[in-house]
Amino acid sequence: MSSTSESTRRLTVVDIARMHADGERIAMLTAYDYPTAGILDEAGIPMLLVGDSLGQVMLGYETTVRVTMDEMLHHTKAVVRGAHRALIVADMPFLSYATPDDAVRNAGRFLREAGAQTVKVEGGVRTARVIETLVRAGVPVMGHIGLTPQAINALGKVRVQGRTREAARALLHDALAVQEAGAFAVVLELVPEQLAAAITARLRIPTIGIGAGAGCSGQVQVVTDFLGLGTFMPRHAKAYADMRAVILAAAAAYRSEVEAGTFPGAAQSSRMDDAILDEVLGHTPDDRTAEGSQRIEAGIPLDRDL
Ligand code: KIV
Repeated sequence: MSSTSESTRRLTVVDIARMHADGERIAMLTAYDYPTAGILDEAGIPMLLVGDSLGQVMLGYETTVRVTMDEMLHHTKAVVRGAHRALIVADMPFLSYATPDDAVRNAGRFLREAGAQTVKVEGGVRTARVIETLVRAGVPVMGHIGLTPQAINALGKVRVQGRTREAARALLHDALAVQEAGAFAVVLELVPEQLAAAITARLRIPTIGIGAGAGCSGQVQVVTDFLGLGTFMPRHAKAYADMRAVILAAAAAYRSEVEAGTFPGAAQSSRMDDAILDEVLGHTPDDRTAEGSQRIEAGIPLDRDL
């Protein structure tokens, strides 16, 4: 089937808006590589986020602050190649959108070089001008408010946001600012569920929650949490598989078969015409032992004889 046929048409922000208008809840997952993106796409996940969480869950950094544009582009390209239907959201890394000019230049790289359709930026009121500039330039933007991990050095620690009167008001303002700036959707991360539901009810655009309760228009999970790949599981996450156990068992089985000499077997090996090998090694059929194909050790020519 051609990747341009109707059944594999790439979804757009218009499709996401239609799903939201029809009352469909939107399931988003992060993806960082070609094979996983292909599987999630086949499962019908409509939006894949190449999150800068890749810094922690794929590259082993302590925070997302160290993730670079080059790393994000590399992984976004792989996800775009793997998924033919899902809308791809590329996460703009720390300081890549510090000014509207930086934002346009770097978002342009995600769309032109990597093939993403949209970008995500963290921050509400403080990022509204950047969102507006990107949207005017033709770049669809997903906002991200509540816990914004790129601000971890200012926030101090990962915790639920918006619990106090002031913080809840500020979060409402952030949500409205992101919408008014033209974002097509907004992530709400680590927000009390009643506040997330109230924000969702006040917005026209879909809210995508992570640790923000069931009252959001959609949900996003980090794929390594969702697959049970990591050693640490955040409270807001749910493992839908135990891939860590699956990989551990597979690796142990492989190791013991290699050590026992039972892998590879006949099914994983290829053979050649014995006569050709005899000729190459300078053997005659008489050199063979009584068992047939087992060869004598002596007589194997050195490289210089070949
Ligand atoms: O980087 C990421 O994975 C994210 C999600 C947690 C929304 O921003």
